[in-house]
Amino acid sequence: MFEVLPLLPNDPILGLSIAYANDTNPNKVDLGVGVYKNDAGITPIMKAVAEAEKLRIARDTTKAYTPPAGVPGANEVSTRLVFGADHPAVAAGRVRTVQAPGGCGALRVAAELIQRAKPCANLWVSTPTWANHVPLLGSAGLKLREYPYYDYASHSLNFSAMLNTLKEIPRGDLVLLHACCHNPSGADLTRAQWDQAADVLVERGIIPFVDMAYQGFGEGLEEDAYGLRMLANRVPEMIVANSFSKNFGLYRERAASLSLVFADSAQADAGFSQLLNVARAIYSMPPAHGATIVDIILHSTELAQLWQTELTQMRQRIAGLRTNLVESLNGLQQAQDFSFIAQERGMFSFLGLTVDQVRKLKNEYSIYMTDTSRISVAGLTNEKMDYVAKAITAVL
Ligand code: LMR
Repeated sequence: MFEVLPLLPNDPILGLSIAYANDTNPNKVDLGVGVYKNDAGITPIMKAVAEAEKLRIARDTTKAYTPPAGVPGANEVSTRLVFGADHPAVAAGRVRTVQAPGGCGALRVAAELIQRAKPCANLWVSTPTWANHVPLLGSAGLKLREYPYYDYASHSLNFSAMLNTLKEIPRGDLVLLHACCHNPSGADLTRAQWDQAADVLVERGIIPFVDMAYQGFGEGLEEDAYGLRMLANRVPEMIVANSFSKNFGLYRERAASLSLVFADSAQADAGFSQLLNVARAIYSMPPAHGATIVDIILHSTELAQLWQTELTQMRQRIAGLRTNLVESLNGLQQAQDFSFIAQERGMFSFLGLTVDQVRKLKNEYSIYMTDTSRISVAGLTNEKMDYVAKAITAVL
């Protein structure tokens, strides 16, 4: 039966890592997959994580199954991290959180639950959005529609076009929003724009589905959650998929949480039972290791402090790389102004290159990025800055 299955091309994002690994050029630069790297080009294990891993080994006495919602304790700290201390929706018993196998797992469980509650609902995603949103959510059966978001010509958010489309979305549809550090554009809503978007969602009864994969990489842990916390105060129902891959550097451990806000606590109990039932039908229960690390760190004042310091360093390093890249590029040529890169946030920005220019960078300079010219800024190092800026200038 398998003979009917054709060979597929590599994944547009993950495939870049394979090509990069096979490249023998000593000058190669990986600006592909969104993985934080330090100035030595290494994705380090955070010190707080390494400490928590030691504590975990000393403390754990069993490998028996965890409860279906995941490691007890981790959901409480995840909820606090996402919604902040004392959020009214949490205090009212309207929020339920489960762990999930990575941000992808959280998104998929949410999509399956939407399918149960509202078969074939429309889910509106930004143009552009993270390349994997479409297959991940669409293959659960959701009908995906698009709202305008990023304007490639002006290298900025096209908020008026976004708002105009939100005003036309049928009542009861869902809208996927990036909490911060929009992937792939790096262009985020201001607080005033979040407020304006919320007015429309409330008025039209649209359900927000927020994907938060980069909390702490934009402005800060609290600042990056502004939009979702404000929305959770204003709407009866919403969904938040939250990943710990980036902010705890736990990529391969697949640590994430999914929080749902319900209209009241009775609906929350029913919805929670459905969530567990969805997960049981896919993977039974989430992996424990990464969630346990998050649990240990956030339950320890000392480790939480260490983790926040490390997270701040990562954020500041990326912001510094953004500024250095703009200075290098604008210093080498006047044809194109790259200042927008310093205004954007998080791991990604579009350089604004054509597919041909991107291919040239790969084939002639061993500089890897997606065909859309999305770069993972954290893949730059100060040592390689000049090489990268000169190569980009050469292909312009
Ligand atoms: C990315 O966008 O590069 C990351 O979120 C990694 C991934 O899974 O695509």
